[in-house]
Amino acid sequence: MRKFISPEIIFGSGSIELVGQHASNLSPRRVLVVSDAGVREAGWTGSVEASLRNSGLDLSTYDRASANPCVEDVVRGARRYLDDACDLVVAVGGGSPIDCAKAIGIMAASGMDVRWFEGMDRVRVPGPPLICVLTTAGSSADVSPFAVITDREGRKKMTIINRLLVPDLTVIDPATTVTMDADLTTYTGMDALAHAFESYISNASSPLTYLFALEAVKLIAENLPSARQDPKDMGAREQMMLASTYAGLAFSNAGLGPLHAMAHSIGGFHDAMYQQAACALLEHVIEFNHPCAEERYLRLEVAMFGSARGKGPLIDLLGELRRDLGADGGLESIGVRRGDIHRLSENAIHDPCLATNPRPAGRKDVEELYERAM
Ligand SMILES: [Fe+2]
Repeated sequence: MRKFISPEIIFGSGSIELVGQHASNLSPRRVLVVSDAGVREAGWTGSVEASLRNSGLDLSTYDRASANPCVEDVVRGARRYLDDACDLVVAVGGGSPIDCAKAIGIMAASGMDVRWFEGMDRVRVPGPPLICVLTTAGSSADVSPFAVITDREGRKKMTIINRLLVPDLTVIDPATTVTMDADLTTYTGMDALAHAFESYISNASSPLTYLFALEAVKLIAENLPSARQDPKDMGAREQMMLASTYAGLAFSNAGLGPLHAMAHSIGGFHDAMYQQAACALLEHVIEFNHPCAEERYLRLEVAMFGSARGKGPLIDLLGELRRDLGADGGLESIGVRRGDIHRLSENAIHDPCLATNPRPAGRKDVEELYERAM
């Protein structure tokens, strides 16, 4: 028996204008809009606020989600939510404001320190209803039961996994992604590719998740280069947004693996873009897992490149794709040093994403993978 979780999904260009209508269906007293400085500057936060106000709703805003949302961001946001007597959260942006909004909700509802929720299934009291308005293709925080919050004191990223974190509604408007620059387009797209790869070979995958993972890798191979090259290519943007949503539904229901455990650890330790780390680790993690998932990697290769020839060619093709996208740097290029590997591995082996990997990965394996990806 398998269960498949998903929020209600509204997909299509122009859907951002419908946020107010959907929010007012919930009859909130006041809405907390969670966003960040970049998304506000791009104009999307303002568009959502206008839609909410046009539907007669009262708003409170919190724009202080960091690129790697941290405990302090969540604490301040939860205080704003409670002080302003809000009862609905609308997150606008990519993974950062959405993860921050999820954590604000569970902290405000329970009154507990957000650090307490780290790991699997530790959330007991559901947060308020959450509507996401997505403006980047990649993280899939808008469909997932994950929230990743940085603990700056502990210099680590905490992964909180709980089905109560699946948003109630996500509004996915591909037109919003035209404001992503070439690098953000590339790395969020490669993160989505990593979601599809890890979830497809995960021990918790199932026929319900295979479809989404395979279709995601196909769409990414076909559309990521065009979306990078021409930000205004709406066809490619729309297909990338779909691919990202498919990959998100796959990993939300099948889990991830060592690539994410290791990339989360880098994101917590360095503040470097976690997607760049995910991109640098992809081929090395495939190499490590290959003996336990040969058949599945072949199927991913067929879906992505049209034919299957095995581990060597798959890794070469992915390397070629990264080079074409200008995303072929190793971990050193994003500021990771060899001296960090010990500490990074310590955090990675405690990340719940490791639990569903088909090949058990211990501390020594993780250290070796970091070494190879330098
Ligand atoms: Fe990811």
